Amino acid sequence: MFPISHFNITKTPFYYYDKTLLSNTLAKLIRLAGERNYHVHYAVKANANPEILKLIAASGIGADCVSGGEIKAALEAGFPAKKIVFAGVGKADWEIEYALEKKIFCFNVESAEELSVIEELAKKKENIASIALRINPNIDAHTHEYITTGLSENKFGIPIEMLDSIFSQIQRSPHVQLVGFHFHIGSQILNLETFHVLCERINQLQDDLSKRNIQVKHINVGGGLGVDYENPDKNPIPDFGRYFDIFQHNLNLRGGQQLHFELGRSIVCQCGSLITRVLYIKKGIEKQFVIVDAGMTDLIRPALYQAHHCIENITSDMEKCRYDVVGPICESSDCFGRDVMLNETKRGDLIAIRSAGAYGEAMASQYNCRTLPGYLIE
Ligand SMILES: Cc1ncc(COP(=O)(O)O)c(C=O)c1O
Repeated sequence: MFPISHFNITKTPFYYYDKTLLSNTLAKLIRLAGERNYHVHYAVKANANPEILKLIAASGIGADCVSGGEIKAALEAGFPAKKIVFAGVGKADWEIEYALEKKIFCFNVESAEELSVIEELAKKKENIASIALRINPNIDAHTHEYITTGLSENKFGIPIEMLDSIFSQIQRSPHVQLVGFHFHIGSQILNLETFHVLCERINQLQDDLSKRNIQVKHINVGGGLGVDYENPDKNPIPDFGRYFDIFQHNLNLRGGQQLHFELGRSIVCQCGSLITRVLYIKKGIEKQFVIVDAGMTDLIRPALYQAHHCIENITSDMEKCRYDVVGPICESSDCFGRDVMLNETKRGDLIAIRSAGAYGEAMASQYNCRTLPGYLIE
């Protein structure tokens, strides 16, 4: 599966992206969304590699950005401004001004305070900002606490109880136009029943608001569809059909209302692996450590979220042995996996850390004055 002969001449560590898998994933997603007339925006935060962005932009879907830098990257990759949504609790003035100048599709507004700033900046530019209100539906996504975003204790979105005063604020301003409601409850959600609960919460809200003649053109349910980190080869493409069916069967859209999604992980995760070389096999008292040249600076998910990734020795076909696979960074959390069964490993072997296409390269840092990882796409 991996073109190891090329890998021997590529400097490690690097991300290897399988273009065919990405294309197949996009084709399936676009077909299933198209059949239901759904609109998908790729969550750029998952992977902003310029070549990956170009491939996704060429497929025709939109982009979901959380910073001015992401909007710039999305435009450069070829996403049209009219398909870009801009979310985030802390939009800086320059980012709002930039998004207004570029005439993006919509701001996902996260607070009354932010709304006032957008209003003021749009007025200064004699512009009208299209906005969706990001509503915090207070739903438990049953995922890791660091990637749960839809509970009232989280910083994201506007509590339903505060909507009334925001509606009055919007009505008073000729410089903002309410076009949608936005929700995003968390990431790596595998229990699809959670999205059913979201649909019910949205139905209830729309019923309440329609009694007061408040209706919007767009409902955006965010992203969050999980992937199979345990079996990347068995389930390389997430079950977009089952996911969309939940919304098709449970969300009551009003006449003419469009449904939007912001998917990140489910689009890019399985097409990427982090390839790293073994520096040392270190024998401890109770453990054997495989020390590789990639660290938490290249892939932070295991250290940050205790995330699991399948790890394979792609250059050995020896009997399996038990190892802890660790990086060179001066932190005990710099560990990719404990008690991993790997083909017997020696210095110089290549290790693939699978399902690393999402929140991998995008979260890389230069801690310890390290160089950022390279990449190979084919
Ligand atoms: C507002 C918003 N939309 C979409 C996403 C993408 O989520 P995922 O990669 O789980 O699909 C995120 C991720 O955290 C997000 O914060």
